[in-house]
Amino acid sequence: MLTLDKLTSLCKRRGFIYPSSEIYDGFGAIYDYGPLGIELKNNIAKAWWKSMVQLRRDIVGLDSAIFMHPQVWVASGHTGAGFDEALIECRGCHNRIRADFLLMDKFGIDADKAPIDEINKILKDLRSQGKKVTCENCGSSDLAEAKRFNLLVKSNLGSPTDALSEENVVYLRAETCQGIYLNYKNIVDTMRVKIPFGVAQIGKSFRNEIVARQFIFRTREFEQMEMQYFVKPGDDDKYFEELKKLRYNWYLEYGISKENLKWHEHEKLAHYASAAYDIEYNFTAIGGFKELEGIHARGDWDLSQHTKHSGVKLDYFDEATNERFTPHVVETAAGLNRNVLAFMSDAYCEEEVDGEQRVVLKFDPRIAPMKVAILPLQKKPEALIEKSDEIWQNLAKNWMCDFDVAGSIGKRYRRQDEIGTPFCVTIDFDTIGQGDKKLKDTVTIRERDSMKQERIKIKDLVEYLEERLGD
Ligand code: GAP
Repeated sequence: MLTLDKLTSLCKRRGFIYPSSEIYDGFGAIYDYGPLGIELKNNIAKAWWKSMVQLRRDIVGLDSAIFMHPQVWVASGHTGAGFDEALIECRGCHNRIRADFLLMDKFGIDADKAPIDEINKILKDLRSQGKKVTCENCGSSDLAEAKRFNLLVKSNLGSPTDALSEENVVYLRAETCQGIYLNYKNIVDTMRVKIPFGVAQIGKSFRNEIVARQFIFRTREFEQMEMQYFVKPGDDDKYFEELKKLRYNWYLEYGISKENLKWHEHEKLAHYASAAYDIEYNFTAIGGFKELEGIHARGDWDLSQHTKHSGVKLDYFDEATNERFTPHVVETAAGLNRNVLAFMSDAYCEEEVDGEQRVVLKFDPRIAPMKVAILPLQKKPEALIEKSDEIWQNLAKNWMCDFDVAGSIGKRYRRQDEIGTPFCVTIDFDTIGQGDKKLKDTVTIRERDSMKQERIKIKDLVEYLEERLGD
């Protein structure tokens, strides 16, 4: 069973994910992606982009800036109560507590998106019933009243001083999709798109989360993969259902187990949404089913708000029907980092092999960080390394390939299992003509999940791997 300790230790030990600023004792639940983590994250992003952009004539890509005009966040509603959380501070240890988490975890009360007054009333009622409302960190019941806390991260640009003042405040974007709305007109004017059409973007978002915890599940800096699909008003339901199906099936196609996915319909909606479903994944290491991605119907909220605040009309003229309207939007908003967590959790297996335990990440080969490991049987003679290097040079033109000479071959197989490499290629004395002459120019190839080994000719390696690794 995968625990959070096992996962964080594997991520650190094998170069997937490191705590940020570790030599300064870390920094508020921010993480860095190591050499294998970046490969894994890139492969997930690539698979998403393929499904969203490459395979769709009706969807185009975008890479908009992180900084946008501060009015964007006023128009979108993020500077207001819609993007607030209720914060309680512990007077004992100064721990910051998210009131809705505390009420749910300790009392099973759903206070998600409840107004501050209501939250403070619930807390007062609980205390008057003799219930103990305490800090999860130090156990103190000396807690301040809940107060509103906005999640936008502020910064400043072009300021002569370091101080943040109201005139020069800018925000780091809290969702990538606002950049899509700001470019709606550019895309309609330049790309000859016809409704319905979508715009997809992958990039960083920032939220001043009160509680950043559970490893990379909830962090203050993270990446989103979002696609906004612009439709004719009235067609919302049809495309909403299509998008739900598309996104759910994408996870299944890339190997996430069916039993670890489920839908959650939101009853309380975010300020912009008229319907919202989450795809939840069973993150066993952090307590079960939780949100992985949201599919939202946003109506004309964003385009209308930006029209109102900018004075620029963001509408659409349908030449076929001679109609002018403000398109409605259905969106998919997935967390890339939560995807990394889901793909790692789903791939994680512990198995017993010859009385020993092996840990193996059974990634779909398209997601695996390394596709092939080249393993010379030993460091000497030089001809063994030279032949191995030649094979590495050839395969690396197509795939990310590891090269490992250190330790016994068994240990090296285990290491590759633990990072999820689908194939290991071993170069031995037979390969270089210093053993069984009939086996010259052949190698042993070992498959990760079955651990089956077969001998194949070097010249057939590329074709063999092409057939099994996918794109
Ligand atoms: N544009 C809509 C939007 O941003 P959201 O539900 O707030 O919707 C979408 O966020 C996804 O972004 C979530 O399902 C989650 O995967 C990811 N996400 C949101 N906040 C996050 C955080 N603090 N850390 C990591 N991922 C986060």
